[in-house]
Amino acid sequence: MAVLKLYEYPDEVLRQKCERVTKVDDKLRKFLDDMLETMYVDKGCGLAAPQVGVTKRIIVLDTNPSDEDLSVRHPMYLINPEIIWRSEEKVLFKEGCLSLPDQRAEVERFERVRVHYTDYDGREQEILADELLAIILQHEIDHLDGILYIDHLSRLKRSRLLKKLEKFREEKAQGNS
Ligand code: NI
Repeated sequence: MAVLKLYEYPDEVLRQKCERVTKVDDKLRKFLDDMLETMYVDKGCGLAAPQVGVTKRIIVLDTNPSDEDLSVRHPMYLINPEIIWRSEEKVLFKEGCLSLPDQRAEVERFERVRVHYTDYDGREQEILADELLAIILQHEIDHLDGILYIDHLSRLKRSRLLKKLEKFREEKAQGNS
């Protein structure tokens, strides 16, 4: 497995509408493994292909990624994921994103979603998700259409967050010099 380069805001690759995957083969599975490795190394609970520069409809996730006990890790690979049902109820959850390091903001999402996707072995699957899984799925599937969680914020909250991101990067750059 290999750790892939992570693309951060405002890279243009994060704004692309991703293409559907037409074939699940060993080459694709190798990419899925690399995506998962990258997600674990960066301590994320979800990662979408455009975040590693690939504009294909692929996401990986794990609702419990930082657990030291590897046996309780539960990675999921979703190819061509599509939300086919949304609950009426909504929830607020503080989200972050590996492409906007060190930032978090509260976003409104559907409480439950049903998602159709193709799995690691090329089989068609459906999942009814709630709680954290439902939120991660909505966040990551947004990425495949070039949508970031900051797009769901008010203009004021978004500009505040982006200012904080800029400050974080400046401080990091100074710390490294
Ligand atoms: Ni994200």
